[in-house]
Amino acid sequence: MVNYKDLGLVNTREMFKRAVNGGYAIPAFNFNTMEQMQAIVQAAVETKSPVIMQVSKGARNYANATILRYMAEGAVAYAKELGCEHPEIVLHLDHGDSFELCKDCIDMGFSSVMYDGSSLPYEENIRISRQVVEYAHKYDVTVECELGVLAGVEDEVASEVSHYTKPEEVIDFATRTGCDSLAISIGTSHGAYKFKPEQCTRDPKTGRLVPPPLAFDVLAEIEQKLPGFPIVLHGSSSVPQDEVDTINKFGGNLPDAVGIPEEQLRKAAKSAVCKINIDSDSRLAMTAAIRKYLAEHPDHFDPRQYLKPARENMKKMYIHKIVNVLGSDGKLAE
Ligand code: G3H
Ligand code: 13P
Ligand code: ZN
Repeated sequence: MVNYKDLGLVNTREMFKRAVNGGYAIPAFNFNTMEQMQAIVQAAVETKSPVIMQVSKGARNYANATILRYMAEGAVAYAKELGCEHPEIVLHLDHGDSFELCKDCIDMGFSSVMYDGSSLPYEENIRISRQVVEYAHKYDVTVECELGVLAGVEDEVASEVSHYTKPEEVIDFATRTGCDSLAISIGTSHGAYKFKPEQCTRDPKTGRLVPPPLAFDVLAEIEQKLPGFPIVLHGSSSVPQDEVDTINKFGGNLPDAVGIPEEQLRKAAKSAVCKINIDSDSRLAMTAAIRKYLAEHPDHFDPRQYLKPARENMKKMYIHKIVNVLGSDGKLAE
């Protein structure tokens, strides 16, 4: 058993309180590789932002659970080495699908976990969420739970259709589970294809898809039922079209990839939404840079040569999100 406090990590409680009161959101970036970890830490240190580094079940399968945990411990040391005396880094389990997985992460030093029972019947979701909360709170680990279903397909997270969170359920759910934050469904979804072309209109000038707006009326109702309660938005990549264009130009094939417009995320961040999850944008930034580099340097084969611009491109994207979309720059406690 390792407690996250001994690793220099923090839970989400205080940073969420400040974010809700300050009208901004904390970035939650997924990581699977060393380069993503480095880029996240560099971006957080340069912008003086708290940051949530999150690990999915798929990431644990890919990189190995122990390695990822040590990488997060290394992230704290790296942030200090980069000049940040008191970094605020959360190590968070993304989309935990069982009590056992959440417990395993808590026992190995995670400071925050998500239990995602959103696809289960309501009462079953409450029962397991409550079980996770009871265990986590013994160690002062914070817990995110989810109500409402996001559409989209990832390695371990898949649903054909989305169901908006029902505002009339949120008070009962939050009270009975005791969760510290609530992930809701208001029209975001996972991956780089968030909307089908038939759900969008098409900009006649650019030919690009224009997605339907998020359900801000549902968000407002939830906020009104749970004033000041930390709300989380998953599936919040914007799918930057310049990265998609670069990928397609250098051999990729991502037709009609579309995300959540940043303007809408900015609006959400000013409300009770205090954690915004971004994974796909990092994948796109990495892939675009690697495709471009390899196309332009067909004789290079040292991974450091193409992973360096990939890391730079991800860092640029993380900084942009922190400063121009979420507004968490300069928001460290001290
Ligand atoms: O919400 C899902 C995250 O993007 C993680 O995706 O399960 O493919 O690692 P993954
Ligand atoms: P994106 O696929 O939009 O990046 O969402 C990531 C996410 O919600 C991780 O939990
Ligand atoms: Zn998610």
